[in-house]
Amino acid sequence: MENKHFLLISMPGQGHINPMFQFGKCLIHAGAGRVTFATTAHGLTQVKAFPSLENLHYASFSDGFDDGIKPTNDPHRIMAELKRVGSQTLTELLLSLSKEGNPVSYLIYTLLLPWAADVARDMSIPSVFLCILSTTAFALCYCFFEERDGVYDSNDNRPPSSIEMPGLPLFTSKDMPSFLLPNDPHASTLIPLFQHHIQALEKDSKACVLLNTSDCLEEEAIRLISNLNPIPIGPLVSYAFLDENNSTDSSCEIDLFEKSAEYSQWLNSKPKGSVVYVSFGSLAVLQKNQMEKILLGLTGTCRPFLWVIRPSAGSNDREFEEKIRDKVNEEVGLIVPWCSQMEVLTHESIGCFMMHCGWNSTLESLATGVPVLGFPQFSDQTTNAKMVEEVWRTGVRARVNEDGTLEAEEIERCLEMVMGGGQRGEEIRRNAKRWKGLTLEAVMEGGQKRKDNSEIDLFCRYPIW
Ligand code: UDX
Repeated sequence: MENKHFLLISMPGQGHINPMFQFGKCLIHAGAGRVTFATTAHGLTQVKAFPSLENLHYASFSDGFDDGIKPTNDPHRIMAELKRVGSQTLTELLLSLSKEGNPVSYLIYTLLLPWAADVARDMSIPSVFLCILSTTAFALCYCFFEERDGVYDSNDNRPPSSIEMPGLPLFTSKDMPSFLLPNDPHASTLIPLFQHHIQALEKDSKACVLLNTSDCLEEEAIRLISNLNPIPIGPLVSYAFLDENNSTDSSCEIDLFEKSAEYSQWLNSKPKGSVVYVSFGSLAVLQKNQMEKILLGLTGTCRPFLWVIRPSAGSNDREFEEKIRDKVNEEVGLIVPWCSQMEVLTHESIGCFMMHCGWNSTLESLATGVPVLGFPQFSDQTTNAKMVEEVWRTGVRARVNEDGTLEAEEIERCLEMVMGGGQRGEEIRRNAKRWKGLTLEAVMEGGQKRKDNSEIDLFCRYPIW
């Protein structure tokens, strides 16, 4: 292990970087000789501060969009460029690391980068895919391709039928990863990509897939994809905030957004379990009228709230965001552009997490025992919201209108259900506490296993080449 050099590559989204970076830290704790964390050239320029750890290094590769991807760029072109330019620049990166005396022993890559495995194979470097989505969503993709005999026909506009997974509730189209639905704008780019990931794993009996989950959280889904040789190594959540023996070290996270400094004090002034924390992750863009309805719902509950509104992410209109901010009096709520989410979720004032159910946020809610009000937007979020509501039963999923919008009254109803004195709220809070225990055990046990090298060792000894 001490002679090994791991190159971890990730797309520059916060939801991709976080689990990959946490995995890098685990490798270092397990005694890896060197870990290099790399993302795209533009992505690296967006990092606000680079955590410094012994044996940890940073690098970049070009994806062909060194000035950043614009919302107007065609997704097919983005993927094609990413593969064409990325394959070339990743090869160059591997060669230059080797030339400087640090040859790469293993390449780990996340979602959207399946071509990295081909680059690695050409250079005789073993590579492994780390799935950053929930395993249940990944397993649904797997079933989806199986049902279609492994062939996806983009001209076939049939919506996928509901999918049954043994031991889990029925997943209907509203619970499936959104990109599997034919009317989803990303279906035609993401379905072939997932197919590529899954087929590559199926073709190579020696391949394995690293999962950001644990047996206790997603046992059924892990079992379902057992022939892909799954290795659950999660939950990969920021460890420092959960380990009582550790100081809470937020500098050990990579942030793509500037953190606000004002919320800690504000949270300290609020009673235990009283605050609604609201965040929709790093990608979702809510319409102006939706944000107004959320504001109305939050103020209607008379509960204090901390709401993360990323700069120009709610409306692409700074003036509008300022207007929303101006409407909020600090007594009632606080709006910040970004925070350390784990610091917030581990604060005792937090009583509910209103969120999009991105997989990292979902794992973080489970690990901190914070009940959830889910308002999923896209991707695996719909599947994760189903798991929250019906499997772990640690929260509720808001009922939305046909066009997907959420009314203020529904927010009030759900917050009352989750945070109020009724039977359902009590059950949800009890479950959240129970799952916190189980998740922490998995995090700590995983951490211990990683320290003992057993899980990392299992992965290192895996005959992936
Ligand atoms: C994306 C997809 O949207 C999601 O569906 C998929 O599961 C993972 O990739 P994102 O939308 O950013 O992720 O959501 P999420 O997975 O929840 O990741 C967001 C991360 O940003 C979390 O780890 C959260 O702790 C962090 N965060 C968010 C902060 O640190 N501060 C904030 O203010 C908000």
